Amino acid sequence: MGKTGARPGHEVPFDSEVIGGACFAAARGVIAVTARRAGGSYIRHMASEKNDRSAWLQGPSAPCKNVRDTLQIPWRIVLLGAPGVGKGTQADLLHKRLRACHLSTGDVFRAAGGQKECDRSPAMQQALAYMRRGELVPDATVWEMVRERGECLLCAGGFILDGFPRTLAQAEALKKFMDDEGLSLSAVVNYELAEAEIVTRLGGRRTCENCKAVYHVTERPPKVEGQCDRCRGKLFQREDDRPESIRVRLEAYNRSTAPLIEFYGALGRLVRIPANGSAEEICLKTVSELEAKRDVELDYVEMREF
Ligand code: AP5
Repeated sequence: MGKTGARPGHEVPFDSEVIGGACFAAARGVIAVTARRAGGSYIRHMASEKNDRSAWLQGPSAPCKNVRDTLQIPWRIVLLGAPGVGKGTQADLLHKRLRACHLSTGDVFRAAGGQKECDRSPAMQQALAYMRRGELVPDATVWEMVRERGECLLCAGGFILDGFPRTLAQAEALKKFMDDEGLSLSAVVNYELAEAEIVTRLGGRRTCENCKAVYHVTERPPKVEGQCDRCRGKLFQREDDRPESIRVRLEAYNRSTAPLIEFYGALGRLVRIPANGSAEEICLKTVSELEAKRDVELDYVEMREF
């Protein structure tokens, strides 16, 4: 469907302007400014905490039950940071505040790992082997998987990408995809934490096999040991949280993902957040920095329109 078509959940990016790397359609700017003048933050809490990730986790044939607030300017965010810094935890908290879907590439691979072997494609089979060793999955496989789920990136509800992009080639592919659609990222949040703390976080992580909620045995324990607070699913330790895989993942991060900090800094999209303190404190800090960044950009739009 073309850009003027009414693709469900996709905004029409007509008459857009590019400001410091951010692209706002004029219509979207008016909505945001009105929301601000009406007296309040345009970050509103969700009436329901529904985060239907079926279309992302299972692929485009799965239906998406998320209900979108079309009056809100969508947040299109990338979370960067070393493995274990808390991206998944923050994505889950941010989703409740920003109303954007949490899209994790690692979760898609883990969901495929839960399928019968005969149902997995050879590329997915190969991807799972890379993941177990703590290595990055090849760019072509990752991009094919993300591209297949392109509707999630075009959704009017926005997105919070966690674990993608992870290499310069992936970042460039995402940028081209969004440029072609007349869209751009609201911000790229880089979470920063000392490596020793990261290793402690990964060693104690437990994940729900059912809803994928993340816990930590001492820092964020579930109410009942081994059981998810939300859905009572069983908690398990990820295969790639073994010490030898953690070392490989940290090396891969330093080699391939850390250069993205400079890439997004040059595009004026970067927001740096220290990842110490409680997860809730870090989330509040993130929201406040994101709002401040958007305020500055909207003021710029207003000034130009005046
Ligand atoms: P992925 O699933 O993306 O893993 P990751 O980036 O290594 O990140 P993690 O999920 O390990 O950590 P996190 O930062 O989300 O931390 P979390 O919130 O869980 O990728 C896995 C693999 O898939 C990759 O290694 C690769 O093989 C493959 N892959 C995926 N995407 C790819 C791509 N784009 N390209 C190539 N390959 C790709 O928190 C960690 C722990 O800390 C938890 O126990 C949590 O409860 C605790 N915690 C969180 N916040 C706090 C806090 N504030 N205080 C104390 N504890 C906290």
